[in-house]
Amino acid sequence: MFSYRHAFHAGNHADVLKHVVLSATLRYLVQKETALSILDIHAGCGLYRLDGDYARTSSESQQGIQQLLASRRAAPDSPVAAAVAGYLDILQAYNPGMADGGSPRIYPGSPAIMQHFLRPQDQMQLFELQPADMRALEGNMANLPLARRTHVWHEDGFNGCLRFLPPPSRRALVLCDPSYELKSDYAQVVRWLDAALTRFATGTYLIWYPIIPRPEAHELPRKLKTLARQAGKSWLHATLSIKSGVQSGVHIPGEKVKRGGMAASGVVVINPPYTLHAELKDALPQLRDWMGQDHLAGFHLEKSPDHG
Ligand SMILES: C[S@@+](CC[C@H](N)C(=O)[O-])C[C@H]1O[C@@H](n2cnc3c(N)ncnc32)[C@H](O)[C@@H]1O
Repeated sequence: MFSYRHAFHAGNHADVLKHVVLSATLRYLVQKETALSILDIHAGCGLYRLDGDYARTSSESQQGIQQLLASRRAAPDSPVAAAVAGYLDILQAYNPGMADGGSPRIYPGSPAIMQHFLRPQDQMQLFELQPADMRALEGNMANLPLARRTHVWHEDGFNGCLRFLPPPSRRALVLCDPSYELKSDYAQVVRWLDAALTRFATGTYLIWYPIIPRPEAHELPRKLKTLARQAGKSWLHATLSIKSGVQSGVHIPGEKVKRGGMAASGVVVINPPYTLHAELKDALPQLRDWMGQDHLAGFHLEKSPDHG
Protein backbone atom coordinates (compact mmCIF):
# COMPACT_ATOMS: atom_id res chain seq x y z
CA MET A 1 0.00 0.00 0.00
CA PHE A 2 1.14 3.55 -0.73
CA SER A 3 3.98 2.55 -3.03
CA TYR A 4 2.39 4.56 -5.83
CA ARG A 5 3.57 8.18 -6.10
CA HIS A 6 1.95 10.21 -8.83
CA ALA A 7 4.99 12.54 -9.00
CA PHE A 8 6.70 9.85 -11.14
CA HIS A 9 3.85 9.91 -13.64
CA ALA A 10 2.68 13.54 -13.70
CA GLY A 11 2.15 14.91 -17.21
CA ASN A 12 2.19 11.51 -18.95
CA HIS A 13 -0.25 10.76 -21.79
CA ALA A 14 -2.82 9.36 -19.34
CA ASP A 15 -2.76 12.61 -17.33
CA VAL A 16 -3.17 14.59 -20.55
CA LEU A 17 -6.27 12.60 -21.56
CA LYS A 18 -7.80 12.76 -18.07
CA HIS A 19 -7.06 16.47 -17.63
CA VAL A 20 -8.35 17.45 -21.09
CA VAL A 21 -11.65 15.69 -20.28
CA LEU A 22 -11.72 17.14 -16.74
CA SER A 23 -11.12 20.72 -17.86
CA ALA A 24 -13.66 20.54 -20.71
CA THR A 25 -16.26 19.15 -18.27
CA LEU A 26 -15.62 21.82 -15.65
CA ARG A 27 -15.64 24.64 -18.19
CA TYR A 28 -19.17 23.62 -19.09
CA LEU A 29 -20.37 23.10 -15.50
CA VAL A 30 -19.27 26.54 -14.26
CA GLN A 31 -21.29 28.29 -16.95
CA LYS A 32 -24.29 27.99 -14.64
CA GLU A 33 -24.23 30.34 -11.61
CA THR A 34 -25.56 27.74 -9.14
CA ALA A 35 -22.90 26.47 -6.71
CA LEU A 36 -20.92 23.42 -7.76
CA SER A 37 -19.34 20.84 -5.44
CA ILE A 38 -16.09 19.51 -6.83
CA LEU A 39 -14.75 16.29 -5.33
CA ASP A 40 -11.41 14.65 -6.11
CA ILE A 41 -11.39 11.34 -4.29
CA HIS A 42 -7.79 10.44 -5.26
CA ALA A 43 -6.15 13.84 -5.32
CA GLY A 44 -2.36 13.27 -5.30
CA CYS A 45 -0.15 16.32 -4.56
CA GLY A 46 -2.05 18.88 -6.63
CA LEU A 47 1.05 20.35 -8.28
CA TYR A 48 4.18 18.62 -9.60
CA ARG A 49 7.63 19.74 -10.72
CA LEU A 50 8.47 18.54 -14.21
CA ASP A 51 12.15 19.36 -13.62
CA GLY A 52 12.36 17.57 -10.25
CA ASP A 53 13.92 14.21 -9.37
CA TYR A 54 10.67 12.22 -9.54
CA ALA A 55 9.80 13.39 -13.04
CA ARG A 56 13.40 12.93 -14.22
CA THR A 57 13.50 9.32 -12.96
CA SER A 58 10.57 8.26 -15.10
CA SER A 59 10.62 10.91 -17.88
CA GLU A 60 6.98 10.00 -18.51
CA SER A 61 6.01 13.58 -19.30
CA GLN A 62 8.37 13.36 -22.29
CA GLN A 63 5.86 11.07 -23.99
CA GLY A 64 2.94 13.11 -22.67
CA ILE A 65 2.69 16.84 -22.22
CA GLN A 66 6.24 17.58 -23.45
CA GLN A 67 5.60 15.64 -26.66
CA LEU A 68 2.26 17.39 -27.14
CA LEU A 69 3.91 20.80 -26.78
CA ALA A 70 6.79 19.86 -29.10
CA SER A 71 4.31 18.71 -31.79
CA ARG A 72 2.32 21.87 -31.40
CA ARG A 73 5.44 24.02 -31.74
CA ALA A 74 6.36 22.11 -34.89
CA ALA A 75 2.98 22.98 -36.47
CA PRO A 76 2.27 26.52 -35.23
CA ASP A 77 -0.40 27.16 -37.85
CA SER A 78 -2.55 24.09 -37.13
CA PRO A 79 -5.79 24.92 -35.34
CA VAL A 80 -5.95 23.61 -31.78
CA ALA A 81 -9.10 21.73 -30.71
CA ALA A 82 -11.08 23.74 -28.14
CA ALA A 83 -10.70 21.15 -25.36
CA VAL A 84 -6.94 20.92 -25.92
CA ALA A 85 -6.60 24.72 -26.08
CA GLY A 86 -8.54 25.08 -22.82
CA TYR A 87 -6.27 22.55 -21.10
CA LEU A 88 -3.13 24.26 -22.41
CA ASP A 89 -4.41 27.62 -21.13
CA ILE A 90 -4.50 26.15 -17.61
CA LEU A 91 -0.97 24.77 -18.01
CA GLN A 92 0.16 28.23 -19.09
CA ALA A 93 -1.57 29.88 -16.12
CA TYR A 94 0.73 27.80 -13.88
CA ASN A 95 3.73 28.44 -16.16
CA PRO A 96 3.72 32.08 -17.28
CA GLY A 97 7.12 31.50 -18.98
CA MET A 98 5.39 29.37 -21.63
CA ALA A 99 4.05 32.56 -23.25
CA ASP A 100 7.65 33.33 -24.33
CA GLY A 101 8.20 29.81 -25.68
CA GLY A 102 9.61 28.33 -22.43
CA SER A 103 8.93 24.77 -21.29
CA PRO A 104 6.54 24.16 -18.41
CA ARG A 105 8.23 23.48 -15.07
CA ILE A 106 5.05 22.95 -13.07
CA TYR A 107 2.41 20.39 -13.98
CA PRO A 108 -1.07 21.07 -12.52
CA GLY A 109 -2.66 17.88 -11.22
CA SER A 110 -6.43 17.44 -11.00
CA PRO A 111 -6.86 19.53 -7.79
CA ALA A 112 -5.02 22.46 -9.39
CA ILE A 113 -7.13 22.15 -12.56
CA MET A 114 -10.28 22.09 -10.43
CA GLN A 115 -9.05 25.09 -8.47
CA HIS A 116 -8.68 27.00 -11.75
CA PHE A 117 -12.47 26.84 -12.17
CA LEU A 118 -13.43 27.32 -8.52
CA ARG A 119 -15.73 30.31 -7.81
CA PRO A 120 -16.63 31.85 -4.43
CA GLN A 121 -19.96 29.98 -4.37
CA ASP A 122 -18.33 26.57 -5.02
CA GLN A 123 -16.50 24.19 -2.74
CA MET A 124 -13.90 21.51 -3.28
CA GLN A 125 -13.30 18.33 -1.27
CA LEU A 126 -9.95 16.60 -1.84
CA PHE A 127 -9.07 13.13 -0.50
CA GLU A 128 -5.56 11.67 -0.32
CA LEU A 129 -4.35 8.69 1.71
CA GLN A 130 -0.58 8.76 1.14
CA PRO A 131 0.74 10.82 4.10
CA ALA A 132 3.56 12.70 2.32
CA ASP A 133 1.40 13.44 -0.73
CA MET A 134 -1.42 14.61 1.53
CA ARG A 135 0.92 17.11 3.26
CA ALA A 136 2.21 18.32 -0.12
CA LEU A 137 -1.40 18.70 -1.28
CA GLU A 138 -2.33 20.76 1.78
CA GLY A 139 0.66 23.06 1.23
CA ASN A 140 0.05 23.45 -2.50
CA MET A 141 -3.66 24.18 -2.15
CA ALA A 142 -3.17 26.63 0.75
CA ASN A 143 -1.16 28.86 -1.60
CA LEU A 144 -3.82 29.03 -4.31
CA PRO A 145 -6.77 31.47 -4.48
CA LEU A 146 -10.03 30.53 -2.69
CA ALA A 147 -8.13 28.19 -0.34
CA ARG A 148 -10.92 28.59 2.22
CA ARG A 149 -13.32 26.90 -0.22
CA THR A 150 -10.97 23.89 -0.43
CA HIS A 151 -10.88 21.07 2.11
CA VAL A 152 -8.20 18.39 2.22
CA TRP A 153 -9.11 15.08 3.89
CA HIS A 154 -6.56 12.46 4.89
CA GLU A 155 -8.93 9.55 4.49
CA ASP A 156 -10.24 6.98 2.04
CA GLY A 157 -11.89 8.91 -0.77
CA PHE A 158 -14.26 6.11 -1.83
CA ASN A 159 -16.07 6.21 1.51
CA GLY A 160 -15.30 9.79 2.53
CA CYS A 161 -16.93 11.38 -0.50
CA LEU A 162 -20.29 9.74 0.14
CA ARG A 163 -21.08 12.06 3.08
CA PHE A 164 -20.95 15.01 0.64
CA LEU A 165 -23.49 13.44 -1.73
CA PRO A 166 -25.93 14.78 -2.61
CA PRO A 167 -24.58 18.33 -2.18
CA PRO A 168 -27.04 21.06 -1.10
CA SER A 169 -27.02 22.67 -4.56
CA ARG A 170 -27.56 19.27 -6.23
CA ARG A 171 -24.66 19.96 -8.59
CA ALA A 172 -21.37 18.07 -8.32
CA LEU A 173 -18.43 16.79 -10.29
CA VAL A 174 -16.62 13.79 -8.78
CA LEU A 175 -13.27 12.56 -10.10
CA CYS A 176 -12.32 8.94 -9.32
CA ASP A 177 -8.68 8.34 -10.22
CA PRO A 178 -7.18 5.57 -8.07
CA SER A 179 -3.73 4.14 -8.64
CA TYR A 180 -5.08 0.61 -9.39
CA GLU A 181 -2.15 -0.88 -7.49
CA LEU A 182 -4.32 -3.74 -6.27
CA LYS A 183 -6.50 -6.01 -8.38
CA SER A 184 -9.29 -5.26 -5.90
CA ASP A 185 -9.22 -1.54 -6.83
CA TYR A 186 -11.27 -2.29 -9.96
CA ALA A 187 -14.11 -3.91 -8.01
CA GLN A 188 -13.94 -1.10 -5.47
CA VAL A 189 -14.50 1.49 -8.20
CA VAL A 190 -17.62 -0.38 -9.34
CA ARG A 191 -18.99 -0.68 -5.77
CA TRP A 192 -18.23 2.99 -5.16
CA LEU A 193 -20.00 4.21 -8.32
CA ASP A 194 -23.02 2.09 -7.46
CA ALA A 195 -23.18 3.64 -3.96
CA ALA A 196 -22.61 7.17 -5.29
CA LEU A 197 -25.31 6.87 -7.97
CA THR A 198 -27.73 5.48 -5.38
CA ARG A 199 -27.19 8.59 -3.24
CA PHE A 200 -26.93 11.12 -6.05
CA ALA A 201 -27.87 9.90 -9.50
CA THR A 202 -27.60 13.27 -11.25
CA GLY A 203 -23.98 14.06 -10.36
CA THR A 204 -21.28 14.08 -13.02
CA TYR A 205 -18.77 11.28 -12.36
CA LEU A 206 -15.45 11.04 -14.19
CA ILE A 207 -13.58 7.76 -13.79
CA TRP A 208 -10.09 7.17 -15.21
CA TYR A 209 -8.70 3.65 -15.79
CA PRO A 210 -5.53 2.13 -17.32
CA ILE A 211 -5.74 -0.04 -20.44
CA ILE A 212 -3.41 -2.88 -19.53
CA PRO A 213 -3.51 -6.63 -20.14
CA ARG A 214 -5.55 -7.49 -17.07
CA PRO A 215 -9.15 -8.80 -17.22
CA GLU A 216 -10.31 -6.44 -14.45
CA ALA A 217 -9.09 -3.39 -16.40
CA HIS A 218 -10.68 -4.67 -19.61
CA GLU A 219 -14.07 -5.23 -17.93
CA LEU A 220 -14.21 -2.01 -15.93
CA PRO A 221 -15.68 0.35 -18.60
CA ARG A 222 -18.42 -2.17 -19.45
CA LYS A 223 -19.37 -2.45 -15.76
CA LEU A 224 -19.44 1.35 -15.33
CA LYS A 225 -21.62 1.80 -18.42
CA THR A 226 -23.99 -0.88 -17.14
CA LEU A 227 -24.36 0.94 -13.80
CA ALA A 228 -25.15 4.19 -15.64
CA ARG A 229 -27.70 2.42 -17.84
CA GLN A 230 -29.36 0.81 -14.83
CA ALA A 231 -29.61 4.24 -13.17
CA GLY A 232 -31.12 5.65 -16.38
CA LYS A 233 -28.18 8.03 -16.87
CA SER A 234 -26.14 8.98 -19.91
CA TRP A 235 -22.46 8.13 -20.29
CA LEU A 236 -19.46 8.80 -22.50
CA HIS A 237 -16.35 6.65 -22.91
CA ALA A 238 -13.07 7.86 -24.41
CA THR A 239 -9.77 6.03 -24.79
CA LEU A 240 -6.38 7.12 -26.07
CA SER A 241 -3.45 4.93 -27.05
CA ILE A 242 -0.08 6.46 -27.92
CA LYS A 243 1.84 3.37 -29.00
CA SER A 244 1.81 -0.41 -29.27
CA GLY A 245 1.02 -2.09 -25.98
CA VAL A 246 4.48 -3.47 -25.18
CA GLN A 247 5.26 -3.17 -21.46
CA SER A 248 8.68 -1.60 -21.87
CA GLY A 249 8.67 1.12 -19.26
CA VAL A 250 11.13 2.01 -16.54
CA HIS A 251 10.85 0.41 -13.14
CA ILE A 252 9.82 3.02 -10.57
CA PRO A 253 11.40 2.49 -7.11
CA GLY A 254 8.90 0.81 -4.80
CA GLU A 255 6.36 -0.02 -7.51
CA LYS A 256 5.62 -3.54 -8.65
CA VAL A 257 4.50 -2.67 -12.19
CA LYS A 258 6.57 -1.07 -14.94
CA ARG A 259 4.16 1.81 -15.40
CA GLY A 260 6.08 3.69 -18.05
CA GLY A 261 5.02 0.91 -20.39
CA MET A 262 1.34 1.77 -20.14
CA ALA A 263 0.41 2.66 -23.70
CA ALA A 264 -3.26 3.53 -23.32
CA SER A 265 -5.91 4.63 -20.88
CA GLY A 266 -9.55 5.53 -20.79
CA VAL A 267 -12.09 7.76 -19.15
CA VAL A 268 -15.77 7.04 -18.48
CA VAL A 269 -17.99 10.04 -17.71
CA ILE A 270 -21.46 9.52 -16.25
CA ASN A 271 -23.91 12.39 -16.87
CA PRO A 272 -21.42 14.19 -19.15
CA PRO A 273 -22.09 17.71 -20.40
CA TYR A 274 -24.01 17.42 -23.69
CA THR A 275 -21.15 19.33 -25.38
CA LEU A 276 -18.43 16.86 -24.34
CA HIS A 277 -18.81 14.30 -27.12
CA ALA A 278 -18.41 16.90 -29.88
CA GLU A 279 -15.44 18.47 -28.08
CA LEU A 280 -13.66 15.13 -27.69
CA LYS A 281 -14.41 14.21 -31.30
CA ASP A 282 -12.18 17.16 -32.23
CA ALA A 283 -9.65 16.74 -29.42
CA LEU A 284 -8.88 13.00 -29.53
CA PRO A 285 -7.47 12.89 -33.09
CA GLN A 286 -5.24 15.82 -32.13
CA LEU A 287 -4.02 14.08 -28.97
CA ARG A 288 -3.29 10.95 -31.04
CA ASP A 289 -1.45 12.91 -33.73
CA TRP A 290 0.53 15.05 -31.29
CA MET A 291 1.48 12.34 -28.76
CA GLY A 292 1.28 9.15 -30.89
CA GLN A 293 4.54 7.25 -31.26
CA ASP A 294 3.73 4.57 -33.80
CA HIS A 295 1.02 3.39 -36.18
CA LEU A 296 -0.86 1.73 -33.29
CA ALA A 297 -1.63 5.10 -31.71
CA GLY A 298 -5.37 5.65 -31.78
CA PHE A 299 -8.51 6.61 -29.94
CA HIS A 300 -12.03 5.44 -29.39
CA LEU A 301 -15.06 7.52 -28.49
CA GLU A 302 -18.53 6.20 -27.74
CA LYS A 303 -21.61 7.47 -25.95
CA SER A 304 -24.94 6.26 -24.70
CA PRO A 305 -27.83 6.75 -27.14
CA ASP A 306 -29.35 9.43 -24.87
CA HIS A 307 -26.19 11.59 -24.71
CA GLY A 308 -26.61 14.88 -26.66
C1 LIG B 1 -3.40 8.55 -9.92
S1 LIG B 1 -3.03 9.37 -8.43
C2 LIG B 1 -4.04 10.80 -8.47
C3 LIG B 1 -3.69 11.82 -9.49
C4 LIG B 1 -4.56 13.05 -9.49
N1 LIG B 1 -5.98 12.68 -9.48
C5 LIG B 1 -4.28 13.91 -10.70
O1 LIG B 1 -4.90 13.69 -11.76
O2 LIG B 1 -3.46 14.82 -10.59
C6 LIG B 1 -3.89 8.41 -7.23
C7 LIG B 1 -3.73 8.93 -5.82
O3 LIG B 1 -4.70 8.32 -5.00
C8 LIG B 1 -4.12 8.06 -3.72
N2 LIG B 1 -4.97 7.01 -3.12
C9 LIG B 1 -4.96 5.66 -3.33
N3 LIG B 1 -5.99 5.07 -2.72
C10 LIG B 1 -6.72 6.06 -2.13
C11 LIG B 1 -7.94 6.08 -1.39
N4 LIG B 1 -8.61 4.95 -1.13
N5 LIG B 1 -8.42 7.27 -0.96
C12 LIG B 1 -7.74 8.42 -1.22
N6 LIG B 1 -6.57 8.47 -1.93
C13 LIG B 1 -6.08 7.30 -2.38
C14 LIG B 1 -2.71 7.67 -4.03
O4 LIG B 1 -1.87 7.87 -2.90
C15 LIG B 1 -2.38 8.62 -5.20
O5 LIG B 1 -1.80 9.82 -4.74
